[in-house]
Amino acid sequence: MKLTRRKLLAGLGWAGCPLLVRSGFGTTWSAQAKSPARAAFDLDRRRAVMDRRLLGAFLEHLGRAVYGGVYDPGSRLSDENGFRKDVMAEIRELGVPIMRYPGGNFVSGYNWLDGVGPKEKRPTVLELAWNSIETNQFGTNEFITWCRMVGTEPLLAVNLGWGTPEQAAALVEYCNVEKGTRWSELRRQHGYAQPHNVRYWCLGNEMDGRWQIGHMPAREYGRKAADAARQMRAVDRNLQLIACGSSGPTMATYLVWDREVLEECYDVVDAISLHRYFNNTGETGGDTRRFVALNLDMEQQILDVIAVCDYVRGLRKARKRLWLSFDEWNVWYRARGGDGKRQFAPRLLEEVYNLEDALLVGGCLNTLLRQAARVRVGCIAQIVNVIAPLVTNETGLLRQTIYYPYAWALKHARGVVLDPLLECETYETPNVGATPYLDVAATWDEKTREAAVFVLNRDLDASRELRLEWRPAPTRVLACETLTGKDLKAVNTFEDPKRVVPQPWEAPAAAGTMRLQLPPRSYTVLRLGFA
Ligand code: AHR
Repeated sequence: MKLTRRKLLAGLGWAGCPLLVRSGFGTTWSAQAKSPARAAFDLDRRRAVMDRRLLGAFLEHLGRAVYGGVYDPGSRLSDENGFRKDVMAEIRELGVPIMRYPGGNFVSGYNWLDGVGPKEKRPTVLELAWNSIETNQFGTNEFITWCRMVGTEPLLAVNLGWGTPEQAAALVEYCNVEKGTRWSELRRQHGYAQPHNVRYWCLGNEMDGRWQIGHMPAREYGRKAADAARQMRAVDRNLQLIACGSSGPTMATYLVWDREVLEECYDVVDAISLHRYFNNTGETGGDTRRFVALNLDMEQQILDVIAVCDYVRGLRKARKRLWLSFDEWNVWYRARGGDGKRQFAPRLLEEVYNLEDALLVGGCLNTLLRQAARVRVGCIAQIVNVIAPLVTNETGLLRQTIYYPYAWALKHARGVVLDPLLECETYETPNVGATPYLDVAATWDEKTREAAVFVLNRDLDASRELRLEWRPAPTRVLACETLTGKDLKAVNTFEDPKRVVPQPWEAPAAAGTMRLQLPPRSYTVLRLGFA
């Protein structure tokens, strides 16, 4: 087999482009001769200051996410609030910076008033987004209490499906006004004297989707979102408001929706949302070489939406530049059925993740890091049981494969995102074209003088050498781990929880030039200290 060798030079400061200048030259290589890749770092060359909220997550009233995942009062593993202690400990330890709640599709049929006040008076309702039974035993106050306990910031979504801007503004008042008004006094009666001070809010969810309760045309939604934004801001001036963007590039209205919505509400919102779920079937024909490159499609989606935001900004001659909230992303295609069959906490969307999924999730995290200049919030969807890195049963907690790249990003990615120059051999994939075998992202924390490098090796058959060049040179290797394995379809289960787990990995000594041998089908993190 012959491979065409191309060099990709990346990180030359061409804002927004993942792989930047491509200088192709057509030498042919045999499959055995793997050309070493190169990543040259200058700590002064930076792409963006990273907002930690980029690495957030999502909790929806769906299946066993809330009931049985976070809240399980009957369990011996729960505390006096009914919160699962093992799940709380895990999320606290992960350091998830922000958590989106309560939906998702759920929010477009949710009456927040059903979920506050004395629990015995809360109604049990038929929930229409997932056709499940909702007991409302966990609601806004429980969520905020739980967020404080696990050390995460709430990101609340309001119902702009059948809900009204007035109900949205009332929820802001309930949460954020200290006292002396109708809704703030109701919160106080419910036992919460202090305001919750929720700063980040989503103006509805996926309103472009026909499946969404209250789905409507873009301009109608844009006007409703603008009305809600004005009323919510009248209650609290310090909000960050996220308009609903397209549910993804497969939508017939992709980008047109975003443009029309923003033409109606640009001046009163701060951000627009993006969603994306990946699969290794229709999108890729089951070709894992293509699958592990899908994060580059995610990167293109980000660039598309930035272009639309800036187009509308130009039209309006506005100074304000919107930021992006990638508030749902993950692999999701096997457990798709959305019928809760009128059950309470049914097993819905319990996707089982394998090694190749974890590799793509690592790639997606690299993409988010590279695009941190405009993407401020990101939420892996979701956090527990439903399309999630964590799974509970009656006796404990399981870390799925995708937990590990996510945990590494949370643990190691800090400070600013670096802008390396990259040279790497490529292979051809549909849509993307020349796809580098290695996908690299890196951060630098001035305070601790530590850098972290995250590398996805998309070569499924062979290890790849990456030469890291540093200016200045690092002095210590602080951490080095890799996630890999022979079987791309291997999964973790309660019976065999350690089938796909990170392995310690021997890094070369810290130096100005370091040669890494990255295993085939791997995602690797390296953390370095500088004098
Ligand atoms: O995360 C699962 C669902 O996917 C969410 O409810 C919805 O927003 C998206 O379509």
